[in-house]
Amino acid sequence: MTTWQDEGIRIRRMVPEDYEEAYALWERTPGMHLQSLNNTYGGIALLLTKNPNSCFVAVDADGRVVATALGATDGRKGYLYHVAVAEQWRGHGIGTTLINRIYDVFKAVGIVKIGILVVADNVEGQEFWKKQGWNTRPDVIYFDHNL
Ligand SMILES: CC(C)(COP(=O)(O)OP(=O)(O)OC[C@H]1O[C@@H](n2cnc3c(N)ncnc32)[C@H](O)[C@@H]1OP(=O)(O)O)[C@@H](O)C(=O)NCCC(=O)NCCS
Repeated sequence: MTTWQDEGIRIRRMVPEDYEEAYALWERTPGMHLQSLNNTYGGIALLLTKNPNSCFVAVDADGRVVATALGATDGRKGYLYHVAVAEQWRGHGIGTTLINRIYDVFKAVGIVKIGILVVADNVEGQEFWKKQGWNTRPDVIYFDHNL
């Protein structure tokens, strides 16, 4: 069976220069929550600067971004953001590989707990996390506030 690696897909750290292609992927991925003020170039570049080792892209043989997974930590807990795989590459294990890379980085710096916010109507996304062994937190209500 041909794998994504055989097809020339490779995984590398995300850099700010990937923003435009990554954002285009997020825009065409239903279930991504992009309205937040944090999703500007500046917001993502800041996240990458603070978390340079735990944010990854998968790029195809032509160097185009086909998947992203951003891992960020405040030093105590880890969070995943923008886990997305281009539709034509789903179901090949790329999403799992990307998050496993983030787990490894987090574990190496002593992070033992990770979380992700998934929008309520992204049922497919929720199924993916359940399949990955994640638990929902119905006891928690998320608040946010613009500064
Ligand atoms: C969710 C997503 C990132 C998964 O990426 P992927 O590369 O297709 O996932 P993988 O190939 O690594 O799949 C891993 C396992 O999860 C399963 N899976 C993938 N998507 C699933 C879904 N929507 N529902 C249930 N199971 C799913 C796969 O069947 C696979 O199981 P297997 O190992 O038993 O075959 C991708 O489908 C996507 O980009 N979805 C839209 C964005 C999104 O919802 N992101 C997550 C919420 S933030």
